[in-house]
Amino acid sequence: SEEHSLRPQTLSQYIGQKTVKENLTVFIEAAKMRQECLDHVLLYGPPGLGKTTLSMIIANEMGVNLRTTSGPAIERPGDLAAVLTSLEPGDVLFIDEIHRLNRSVEEVLYPAMEDYFLDIVIGKGPSARSVRVDLPPFTLVGATTRAGMLSAPLRDRFGVVSRLEYYTHDELQEIVERTAVVMDVTLETSAAEEVSRRSRGTPRIANRILRRIRDFAQVRGDGTINQEITSTALQLLQVDDLGLDHIDHKLLLNIIEKFRGGPVGIDTIAATIGEESHTIEDVYEPYLMQIGFLQRTPRGRMVTPLVYEHLNIEVPKT
Ligand code: ADE
Repeated sequence: SEEHSLRPQTLSQYIGQKTVKENLTVFIEAAKMRQECLDHVLLYGPPGLGKTTLSMIIANEMGVNLRTTSGPAIERPGDLAAVLTSLEPGDVLFIDEIHRLNRSVEEVLYPAMEDYFLDIVIGKGPSARSVRVDLPPFTLVGATTRAGMLSAPLRDRFGVVSRLEYYTHDELQEIVERTAVVMDVTLETSAAEEVSRRSRGTPRIANRILRRIRDFAQVRGDGTINQEITSTALQLLQVDDLGLDHIDHKLLLNIIEKFRGGPVGIDTIAATIGEESHTIEDVYEPYLMQIGFLQRTPRGRMVTPLVYEHLNIEVPKT
């Protein structure tokens, strides 16, 4: 399917994340030479930068099956045991949002990661007993938005810890040009540049925007994606010149208008704009901080003079 082939299948097809890619290339090759499974890998960084894609590539490059689950989906130790005991030797188990595993599940995971066994408690009360279950060797690939949200004992059990970075404009341009080929649409260079400048360093956003622009090009034009249709579409999608959307604007304007530019606490911001504070912290803040629009201080979040300039608002006199 289109969705399937949109994702790169190998590390050599994967664009960007140079350091992560170079490291993984070596670790995968070394593990294969030794005929061992790859050490456990923790991938962290903002959403949409390719954590799931990398887990698929790791399994593909190792020539093993990929099993996918998530922190919230594994509610009890038994749920984890069911997944782990059904693995084949060398398989990759991808746990998305691994920071959301609860403590009792985490504790079952430690010996599984370290020595490939589970201690399962069977029965309740006085007749309860613990049974040791051996597991096939496997590779855990964990993904989280912030490594700091993981407990230290869990974080320490990953042999490879990689942080994904925002993509450069050039990398995003290469990605959307590849996507256009897969989607079989003509994407003019100037349009590809425009999309990559306005996608917040994030392939998922760039590809989503490209699909919407393709809709406009198809219905309002001849199907070719040029810069004019791109600009029109992005305006209708409420994406500004820097890729900031309606919620970014709401967040920044709120800090300026209600809190005189800050500092203001994250929960206060969340309550006044009606978004979850976790969503703000994981999805919106990291990019605004990356471009120097937002600062974290001990007393809360503050906008910088760049925001006033970008939004055409006069900087208040102090
Ligand atoms: N599609 C989405 N992310 C990609 C990446 N990093 N490389 C190639 N294609 C992609």
